[in-house]
Amino acid sequence: MLTIRKASNDKREAEWLQASFDVNMGWTKPPGYFAALLERQASAEISLLLALEDSTYLGHCHVLWRSDYPGFRERGIPEIQDLNVRPDLRRRGGGSALLDQAERLIAARAELAGIGFGLYADYGAAQRLYIRRGYLPDGRGLHYRGRPVAAGETCRVDDDLALYLVKRLRTDMR
Ligand SMILES: CC(C)(COP(=O)(O)OP(=O)(O)OC[C@H]1O[C@@H](n2cnc3c(N)ncnc32)[C@H](O)[C@@H]1OP(=O)(O)O)[C@@H](O)C(=O)NCCC(=O)NCCS
Repeated sequence: MLTIRKASNDKREAEWLQASFDVNMGWTKPPGYFAALLERQASAEISLLLALEDSTYLGHCHVLWRSDYPGFRERGIPEIQDLNVRPDLRRRGGGSALLDQAERLIAARAELAGIGFGLYADYGAAQRLYIRRGYLPDGRGLHYRGRPVAAGETCRVDDDLALYLVKRLRTDMR
């Protein structure tokens, strides 16, 4: 059974997450990555959500309450980041369930949710998923490491080149 829960601020949780991610995702996070996330959660900077299939790690994402991206930060738009579902358990609704819960958390505090994706094919699933869920480009064009990319400029297509999107979650705060 698929469940979504908030991560607990516990050292064993960090160790379990780090091991589960590194074994199942096909790539690894730097040592201490999840311990650092839980510290940020303890200081209310982020909320870390976990997807479990029974008790097995399926994936995670977090809500960054004060985004580093100026287009979100200036408008008070929380940003959903680091959405990942393990490759062997994709297309079972895990990514959508994580986004559902992240959006519920955000809707309690803000009118809009923000998210970004990379521009190359590895992000193809996320691109389709976010657009289908109603996320629209924020109208500020491409950004490289948070800085706008100007027309005619040359930049590298890697994980730092992103398009940012927003979704209206509620209308009563306008
Ligand atoms: C994006 C990601 C989190 C989706 O997780 P998931 O658990 O497979 O997502 P879901 O099962 O909820 O899929 C929901 C919908 O997204 C779309 N989608 C998901 N994977 C897709 C794919 N490979 N190709 C096309 N559409 C896809 C479909 O519309 C799908 O609905 P459907 O299965 O009914 O057709 C997962 O593919 C992933 O971890 N990708 C690598 C990391 C990544 O890019 N993260 C996002 C960073 S911005």
